[in-house]
Amino acid sequence: MCSPEQPAMLLLLALLLLCNNGISDVEGSTIHESSIVDLHALLDFKLGITNDPQGALNSWSNNTHFCRWRGVNCTTTSPFRVTEINLTSLDLAGQITSSLGNMTFLRSLDLEWNKFVGPMPILARLQQLHTLYLNNNHLHGIIPDSLTNCTSLVNLDLSVNLLVGQIPILGHLQQLETLYLDDNDLHGTIPDSVTNCSSLANLDLSVNSLVGVIPPKLDFISHIFYLNLSENSIAGPIPPKLGFLSNLSYLDLSGNLLVGQIPPKLGLLSNLILLDLSRNMVAGQIPPSLGFLPNLEYMFLRSNQLEGSIPGELGQLQKLKELILGSNKLSGEFPHAILNISASLQILGLEFNMLDKALPPKIGDFLPNLKELTLDSNTFEGDIPASLGNATGLELIDLSNNSFTGQIPISFGKLSNLTRLNLQLNYLETRESRDWEFLNELRNCRSLNLLSLSYNQLQGHILQFIGNLSPSLDTLFLSGNSLSGQVPQSIGNLNVLTRLSLSGNELSGTVEGWIRNLRRLTILGLSDNNFQGGITQFANLIHLQKLYLSDNNFTGGIQ
Ligand SMILES: *[C@@H]1O[C@H](CO)[C@@H](O)[C@H](O)[C@H]1NC(C)=O
Ligand SMILES: *[C@@H]1O[C@H](CO)[C@@H](O)[C@H](O)[C@H]1NC(C)=O
Ligand SMILES: *[C@@H]1O[C@H](CO)[C@@H](O)[C@H](O)[C@H]1NC(C)=O
Ligand SMILES: *[C@@H]1O[C@H](CO)[C@@H](O)[C@H](O)[C@H]1NC(C)=O
Ligand SMILES: *[C@@H]1O[C@H](CO)[C@@H](O)[C@H](O)[C@H]1NC(C)=O
Ligand SMILES: *[C@@H]1O[C@H](CO)[C@@H](O)[C@H](O)[C@H]1NC(C)=O
Ligand SMILES: *[C@@H]1O[C@H](CO)[C@@H](O)[C@H](O)[C@H]1NC(C)=O
Ligand SMILES: *[C@@H]1O[C@H](CO)[C@@H](O)[C@H](O)[C@H]1NC(C)=O
Ligand SMILES: *[C@@H]1O[C@H](CO)[C@@H](O)[C@H](O)[C@H]1NC(C)=O
Ligand SMILES: *[C@@H]1O[C@H](CO)[C@@H](O)[C@H](O)[C@H]1NC(C)=O
Ligand SMILES: *[C@@H]1O[C@H](CO)[C@@H](O)[C@H](O)[C@H]1NC(C)=O
Ligand SMILES: *[C@@H]1O[C@H](CO)[C@@H](O)[C@H](O)[C@H]1NC(C)=O
Repeated sequence: MCSPEQPAMLLLLALLLLCNNGISDVEGSTIHESSIVDLHALLDFKLGITNDPQGALNSWSNNTHFCRWRGVNCTTTSPFRVTEINLTSLDLAGQITSSLGNMTFLRSLDLEWNKFVGPMPILARLQQLHTLYLNNNHLHGIIPDSLTNCTSLVNLDLSVNLLVGQIPILGHLQQLETLYLDDNDLHGTIPDSVTNCSSLANLDLSVNSLVGVIPPKLDFISHIFYLNLSENSIAGPIPPKLGFLSNLSYLDLSGNLLVGQIPPKLGLLSNLILLDLSRNMVAGQIPPSLGFLPNLEYMFLRSNQLEGSIPGELGQLQKLKELILGSNKLSGEFPHAILNISASLQILGLEFNMLDKALPPKIGDFLPNLKELTLDSNTFEGDIPASLGNATGLELIDLSNNSFTGQIPISFGKLSNLTRLNLQLNYLETRESRDWEFLNELRNCRSLNLLSLSYNQLQGHILQFIGNLSPSLDTLFLSGNSLSGQVPQSIGNLNVLTRLSLSGNELSGTVEGWIRNLRRLTILGLSDNNFQGGITQFANLIHLQKLYLSDNNFTGGIQ
């Protein structure tokens, strides 16, 4: 009946509103013609909504003035014009109509975290628009160039949508402070004009398909605080001028195709908290100047082609919490200077490098707050420092695939939060039965879910201690040692075990008794031992995917 396209009907509608209670307590009692434009636009917006499961727009009815509708705010004096629309997280679905582009007083439009589809609305006439949040919807299509007409924009968040095409020329948006276009499917290069947005403080273009290089004039964005270009295909070198962005606190360039060296000038970023250059093709040495970043908490340089030794200057990073340098070509010995970062360091990852020599014996005393230590796949040698047991917060220790010798420290039993202990592929020994005491001590690690001691030089009987290990143990790998004797029945206590490998030892006896309780097993390796007797209990193991029985003395069929 009331088609909003008919101005006469609209006036009538407005009069109806007047007579209803809605308008009466808003100051001024005529509905101005320009207000009708807004009313019309809101009604048209509502028409575009196809699903409103929470009834969020129930108040958007004729008997209430639109300035009172949920999520709508207006100017405080007549003519009442809409200044804000905020309908976040209401499960609204449908298209966002471009009629919103008629609401020329609109300063803030926040429709984030809904299920809007279709193209972005054309908002080019909204010269007052200050904040536009359309993030976390399902919007398709391009970002219209005309958005650059909204020259008052300060905050623009279009992240987590399905937007395609290129980033428009945004150089006229001189007020822009926050630009989030991440998690879309944007192509092309980062337009140089972005460096014209001299007020930018937060720029996130991550998780798109951007190519080309980092714009060379980035130093124009002198206020930038957060810069995230991760997960694109951006190539070329890291511009040294980034070092002049003195307010930069978060720099994330990970997951791109960057080459060349890390510019030493990055050491000038005195406010930097996070540096992530992981998963690029950056080469050369780690510049010692990175040790001069007094506020750095996170240094992630994993999966590059960095070489040379780890500079001792990093020991000056007194706030560093996480240092992850894995999967590079770093050489030399363990960086003793890192022990200087005593109070703060929680995660140290140096895996898959070419580091060698012994670990500092006091490593655990110097790094008491360590939670994760991954040093696997290097050529470290010597003893495993018993002092690691003093870093009582340790949750993950991976020293696998090195050349460690000697015994396994009993002090690991002090690590009550330990969840993963991987010592496989070393030369660790148990010469006498008391060298197995560590296994008894590990009963205190009640959260342990992975223990791998495979491929060492452990010998002797597997002690009954096995059954006292954490009841949450999921993975137990003991293959490739010289374990002998029978497997204790108590191994059946580990009844959430899903992966068990005892292959390649000298174990004997039957498996009948203990196998029955290990109902969760998906992988069971028993091959290359001296097990004997029947194999009749396997019917219980309904999750089993891989079973290795070869080279034993089993008799009868499998049941
Ligand atoms: C307002 O009233 C008209 C006439 O009754 C009706 O057609 C229209 O759907 C109503 N609009 C809203 C938003 O309730
Ligand atoms: C409307 O403005 C008032 C006062 O500034 C504010 O408290 C309220 O959150 C605003 N509502 C919307 C939907 O923006
Ligand atoms: C919209 O409202 C939510 C609370 O409902 C608030 O957290 C958010 O800041 C508002 N958006 C804007 C742009 O003011
Ligand atoms: C928006 O404004 C244009 C031009 O003034 C007009 O043609 C259109 O009908 C308006 N749309 C709505 C929904 O009011
Ligand atoms: C940009 O805004 C101006 C008003 O300042 C208007 O005249 C022009 O048509 C707008 N451009 C577009 C593409 O809408
Ligand atoms: C950069 O900003 C200036 C205004 O300061 C403007 O005149 C110029 O056109 C902008 N350049 C680009 C490429 O947008
Ligand atoms: C640095 O960034 C912070 C956080 O955005 C901001 O409050 C501060 O004003 C900025 N300082 C400069 C000099 O840009
Ligand atoms: C950068 O973006 C990626 C992907 O959106 C995100 O996972 C990462 O945490 C962001 N980096 C920072 C420093 O916030
Ligand atoms: C370690 O700290 C000591 C005292 O705080 C200092 O003298 C020494 O230079 C530091 N070493 C490194 C490599 O930073
Ligand atoms: C650290 O551990 C070692 C070996 O377990 C021990 O001898 C030493 O007393 C411990 N130091 C501290 C400070 O607890
Ligand atoms: C073990 O973890 C808990 C929970 O995260 C924590 O509260 C506790 O301090 C940790 N224990 C040690 C010794 O760090
Ligand atoms: C295999 O089992 C048979 C029968 O129990 C026994 O005679 C034989 O010695 C066993 N062989 C080995 C290598 O243990």
